[in-house]
Amino acid sequence: MTANQVLYLSRGEVESAGPSMAEIIDALEDAFHEKGEGRVEMPPKPGIHPGQGDNFIHAMPAYIPALKSAGIKWVAGFPENHKRNLPYITGLLILNDVETGLPLAVMDCVWITAMRTGAATALSAKYLARPESTVVGILGTGVQGRTNVEALNVLFPLKKVMAYDLDKGAAHRYAGEMAERFDLEVEVVNEPRAAVTGCDLVVTAGPILKQPHQTIKAGWLDEGAFASLVDFDSYWHPAAMIEADRFCTDDLAQLRHYQEVGYFAGIPPVHADLGELVSGQKAGRESAGERTMAANLGLAMDDMATAPLIYRRALEMKIGTWLPL
Ligand SMILES: NC(=O)c1ccc[n+]([C@@H]2O[C@H](COP(=O)([O-])OP(=O)(O)OC[C@H]3O[C@@H](n4cnc5c(N)ncnc54)[C@H](O)[C@@H]3O)[C@@H](O)[C@H]2O)c1
Repeated sequence: MTANQVLYLSRGEVESAGPSMAEIIDALEDAFHEKGEGRVEMPPKPGIHPGQGDNFIHAMPAYIPALKSAGIKWVAGFPENHKRNLPYITGLLILNDVETGLPLAVMDCVWITAMRTGAATALSAKYLARPESTVVGILGTGVQGRTNVEALNVLFPLKKVMAYDLDKGAAHRYAGEMAERFDLEVEVVNEPRAAVTGCDLVVTAGPILKQPHQTIKAGWLDEGAFASLVDFDSYWHPAAMIEADRFCTDDLAQLRHYQEVGYFAGIPPVHADLGELVSGQKAGRESAGERTMAANLGLAMDDMATAPLIYRRALEMKIGTWLPL
């Protein structure tokens, strides 16, 4: 490595240098503790919206001094990509040297986005879900449907997954793969309600839509259950969200920013952000019967907590391609 080189890591190289889900959850917990103490710099993400409908490309910078991490993710979400056999989420991340500002690495961000989003759900659940939770409902059995269960499985004694997807084939492929990878019972269900009612943990991970389809109605989520709204409020009717005793997010400023551009019109008042939960400034779950929800937006600090772990391991493994600056 010299001052005029940058390390490029492909999707495959990121994955092979990738830390375990447990390590990512730990890194996020450290980062959110810092955020709670006001020691993370992270402006709300600016975005552009090429083409039709719900397409976006977001710029996501963050600086976490305690982790010596600074950088930016440039990430796209194109809901129609599956018709071209392309991933919904794609993009690149630049990691900078906090001493000099120089770029250290440019890496594909698909794996990081998949993993850190699952990790953020699990971290929220650590503070908001019942520790003995065993049954998880998944609505949307794509990338996030996989990594969210992987992460929840690190912190909870999961036994069973109730899997719903509009695409039946996708749900069955998911069931086979997840049952084998994690030794879980995975049942494909035909109705969304069967992946909500009777579940301790619920993750909605379909497309993010400005006009929510509001499929999940009041009375579906059990008392004592926790829900992670990975696809924002797209799946939830306002009357179902208002049943939450604690409605949380990962960053209030960014939630307000999304509201200004038309998302999250029908959510209840926010109890706490994840920094406040992790640093103990606001209480997490206090009784077994509470319904709790986390609408995590996905933050640049999640990526910047994870990227240095990948960079350091890639250096140790001597993988990647050095490019001239
Ligand atoms: N909040 C965050 O931090 C964050 C981060 C990354 C991705 N996301 C969001 O998570 C969602 C899932 O992303 P992904 O990468 O897993 O996408 P994916 O394309 O891999 O999976 C989405 C799945 O949802 C299914 N689906 C579509 N509409 C559905 C519906 N109404 N009910 C049930 N299933 C439905 C699709 O068939 C597909 O299997 C997207 O909305 C994405 O924007 C959020």
